[in-house]
Amino acid sequence: MKDRNYLEIFGKEPDIAVRAPGRINLIGEHTDYNKGFVLPVAIDRQITLTLGRRADKKAVIFCGNLGEKVSLDLSQNSYDSKRTWSNYPRGVIQSLILEGSELGGFNAFFRGDIPMGVGLGSSAAVEVAFAYGLDQLFGLSLERKKMAILCQKAENSFVGVNCGVMDQFISFLGRKDHALLLDCQSLEYKYIRLNLKNFRLVIIDTGIKRELQDTRYNTRRNECEQGVKAISKCLKAINSLREVSLLEFNNIKDFIPKNLRMRSQHVIEENKRVKLCSRLLEKNDLQSFGRLMVRSHQSLSDLFEVSCNELDFIVEKLRKDPGVLGARMTGAGFGGCAIALIKEDHIESIVPELSGEYRKRYSTEPRFYLINASEGASRI
Ligand code: GLA
Repeated sequence: MKDRNYLEIFGKEPDIAVRAPGRINLIGEHTDYNKGFVLPVAIDRQITLTLGRRADKKAVIFCGNLGEKVSLDLSQNSYDSKRTWSNYPRGVIQSLILEGSELGGFNAFFRGDIPMGVGLGSSAAVEVAFAYGLDQLFGLSLERKKMAILCQKAENSFVGVNCGVMDQFISFLGRKDHALLLDCQSLEYKYIRLNLKNFRLVIIDTGIKRELQDTRYNTRRNECEQGVKAISKCLKAINSLREVSLLEFNNIKDFIPKNLRMRSQHVIEENKRVKLCSRLLEKNDLQSFGRLMVRSHQSLSDLFEVSCNELDFIVEKLRKDPGVLGARMTGAGFGGCAIALIKEDHIESIVPELSGEYRKRYSTEPRFYLINASEGASRI
């Protein structure tokens, strides 16, 4: 398909252009909505958005990847069950207006090179690009943290996915060559410099698409909430799983129903792993960090039950390879991507080998992406 742009669609030059990155999460999965800790990295794949003002109160939004356009009245904005991609910008528009921002009419053209629907934060990047772009276009002067929460709310209430704040937060606040340690309760954060020496972060895409609208994500969130209630009954009143130590949990875990026990145990242990990993990365101890990646994966597979055969297969193969320090699924799971820390001069041999074995078993090839830690949303 011919690469179209703003000028071709709208017949004049845009006023501004912005970008917002996708993400991987190094460790801390399904901990964000449990008020715990996460360690994501913004990647060098992104959504780019060009915007121009209109004289009326309409928003005309063109998605370059799909070649589709929607047009809406800012005062009459509702869920679109036909062009579901448009619900991300629609949700952001609604959240901004509800928050009290004065928006004028605008034309928008966006496209991205983040693989879609495979857990690399493409939908959050669309939301962040729109929130940041509209903030810049209309001089709203909103804080990045505030906009991240606003985008999360848009996804929760407009799109209907009860996601946490991680993806939106890192897309706004990512930093080149750094991971971001985020406390999802206080929203305090700290940058951790990534000194990967002769190793590289590699994404392995199983090719299995997963929609967050998939009810299994919301089900896990409900189970964690029920876990909180069960623990409150036999230990102490708590508001989130982050308030329980492993020691306390181990004393009472036999009284918790099995599935809630498994979900809660994952979250409590994963929070510990995140804190430990951030210290290990500060000390450049990549070996120990890699081992914890694998432990996190095992927990997501066995206790939280959000992995799948394909992800398990990839992680199992990679962890046995001497050129790999660690591997795990990243994002919500149920398909999507794994990440691995692989020795640079080993990548060339490992890629065809793993592809071949994967193809034999699943009759399809995984995709590999080498990535670098990048900046959060910015003007271009
Ligand atoms: C998705 C959600 C995040 C987070 C991860 C799992 O990416 O958008 O908020 O819950 O899954 O860690």
